[in-house]
Amino acid sequence: MISVVIPTYQEAESIQLALRRAANALGRFGEEFELIVVDDASGDGTAELAESLQNELPVRVLRRAGKRGLATAVVEGWAMARGDVLGVMDGDLQHPPEVLAALAEAMRRTQADLVVASRYCSGGGARDWPWRRRLVSAAATHLAATVLPLRLSRTTDPMSGMFLVRARALDGLKFSPLGYKILLEVVAKGKIERSAEVPYQFAERERGSSKLGPPQIVEYLVHLARLALSTGQARAWARYALVGATGAAVNLAALYALAVRFRWPLALAAGAAIEAALLTNFFGNHWLTFSRRASGGLGPQLARYEMVCAPGAVLNLVLTIGSFRAGLPLLVAAAIGIVADGLVNLTLNIPAIWRIWGSPLP
Ligand code: GDD
Ligand code: MN
Repeated sequence: MISVVIPTYQEAESIQLALRRAANALGRFGEEFELIVVDDASGDGTAELAESLQNELPVRVLRRAGKRGLATAVVEGWAMARGDVLGVMDGDLQHPPEVLAALAEAMRRTQADLVVASRYCSGGGARDWPWRRRLVSAAATHLAATVLPLRLSRTTDPMSGMFLVRARALDGLKFSPLGYKILLEVVAKGKIERSAEVPYQFAERERGSSKLGPPQIVEYLVHLARLALSTGQARAWARYALVGATGAAVNLAALYALAVRFRWPLALAAGAAIEAALLTNFFGNHWLTFSRRASGGLGPQLARYEMVCAPGAVLNLVLTIGSFRAGLPLLVAAAIGIVADGLVNLTLNIPAIWRIWGSPLP
């Protein structure tokens, strides 16, 4: 049985259509299902409208006393669910309910524990989104993958609010949901061995208004930090930082030795020193951060690592040489290059670097 939770806060204008379309889609898929509306005292008749469909459709309604947040609504809905497959979908029709059938179909076909409706895999998207919203969404997604690369390298849209997950993958799990993004908890803590994705178009909101504002953004950041601490990600981060610091030391020491002791031309010495640091980082991470988890052999892994890190390395080289020519002491010039290199990798490349060692989407 598939149990889909639909959290609502003031969705009177869309809830009935959302329920009808969801029931239609799942009905055609053929498996038994239930729709669980979790309403937070909307006061606009959302709960009553959902209840009025109860003798027509397999709908249940949980009314909560105050507005207590999207993620906790989902968890409470799942707690009363009867299905062995749990799901979630927005109640405002921005998630086309028909995608539920595609998710169920993908779960049956791939035997995945988790199937996510994604805007960011091929075929997905968010039509009509203003560029500002696109930017915020892309930044939030990238930030999540940067803070939690250990687990989030598995899905292209960890922000998605529409997905199906097998109940057994969440068995005995202690959720501490905060704010909006329940999928973060599921991916970070769930026993997900195999996951899949289905593309979808995030529709424009036609009625009502989004409940996403600055308080939700702060909650989101706190949520990410908390997940990093509770999933072992923080430990992986500490190792990664230690390796990075070692690489920086190797860079400086090698540059000094080659340029000053052996009197190599600066460009050659700096290039060799940066490459020595890259190799230090690669093997350091291989053994320490990722405890030798191989995926596709060391050679190809190193090649991918060099490719991902190349832009930062080139920047490092240019800044080192430029700063030295501008009159700075050699090691200060090198430090400027190293810091810039590190920042580029930290802000842009963490998900890609982690993916070199992490399990790719099965
Ligand atoms: N019960 C309850 N309590 N429901 C809530 C609450 C709450 O405090 N806040 C929001 N909801 C409900 C809304 O009524 C809607 O059905 C759903 O949760 C999503 O809320 P929106 O406010 O419409 O969200 P959005 O469109 O800005 O954001 C969506 O962004 C994602 C894309 O990254 C998220 O809701 C995701 O589900 C979506 O995939
Ligand atoms: Mn919405």
